[in-house]
Amino acid sequence: MKKNEAIIDILLSQVKKEDSLLPLSQNSLMLQREITKNSPDFKKIENMIKADPALTSHILKIANSVVYKGLEEVDSVKEAILRLGTNEINNIATWTIHQSNFQTKDPFIKAYKTKLWFHSLSCAVGCVWTSKYLDLDRESVVSKAFISGLLHDMGSLCLLTALEKVKTENKIEDYPSDSLLQELIEKFHTDQGYKLLKYWNLPKEFYTVARDHHAEEFNHSDLLLTLVRLIDKICLKMETGNKPADTAAVISSIEAKLLGVSEIGIAEIEIEIEPSQEKFKTLFKP
Ligand SMILES: [Fe+2]
Ligand SMILES: [Fe+2]
Repeated sequence: MKKNEAIIDILLSQVKKEDSLLPLSQNSLMLQREITKNSPDFKKIENMIKADPALTSHILKIANSVVYKGLEEVDSVKEAILRLGTNEINNIATWTIHQSNFQTKDPFIKAYKTKLWFHSLSCAVGCVWTSKYLDLDRESVVSKAFISGLLHDMGSLCLLTALEKVKTENKIEDYPSDSLLQELIEKFHTDQGYKLLKYWNLPKEFYTVARDHHAEEFNHSDLLLTLVRLIDKICLKMETGNKPADTAAVISSIEAKLLGVSEIGIAEIEIEIEPSQEKFKTLFKP
């Protein structure tokens, strides 16, 4: 018991430090801020992508992957924008910006981070598809859906990265048990995600999603938040084997009611998410 308490104290004091907020290069941070603006400057975005060769090659790799593949290969950012559209390029750029923070050589942390990455991507794809399916064009929900889904659990990533750091620095002897780590993530990831997205200076709607996506009380008129909450529930249910009780809980959830998603609608969302998960695996080798 004492050992567990020590791990919790050390981890929490680590996450309070500013350097435990996940690093993004200056260019990535500026790009992420431009992308998440209400009226992004697309020319600026294109130039920022072009200025970063690693980012450019990642974006082209994803644009040419099985997830997006068209008839012909694209070999420039301009072509990728023309083929996929600015919104998709913003989504792919966000995907690329954050992917490296999910990578690690530590096998214990890797298992958690890989699971989290696929959960985040599944939520992102589920949010985009559902926002179009429900015609949520108002309040720019469609253009913000992917990024909100992808970033909603960034607090968990912060906690895992901080845990890896304290272990590497020998501040803790062993990793906590799976149940303790799960408990810690559940308890602290929303606050940590809120702090991180605010620290990155992203707009309020994104850090509100990070903070309130599991809150008992939430703003029912916030469409983006309600959408992420529903898709998160659906993804978690799929990840834990689609238990009948979980399915019933999603169908009768307040989020499904607020968005007007029926039982059939939930099944359709799942059908969209499932094949995407397989395609992501071809793009991400942790
Ligand atoms: Fe969460
Ligand atoms: Fe989640």
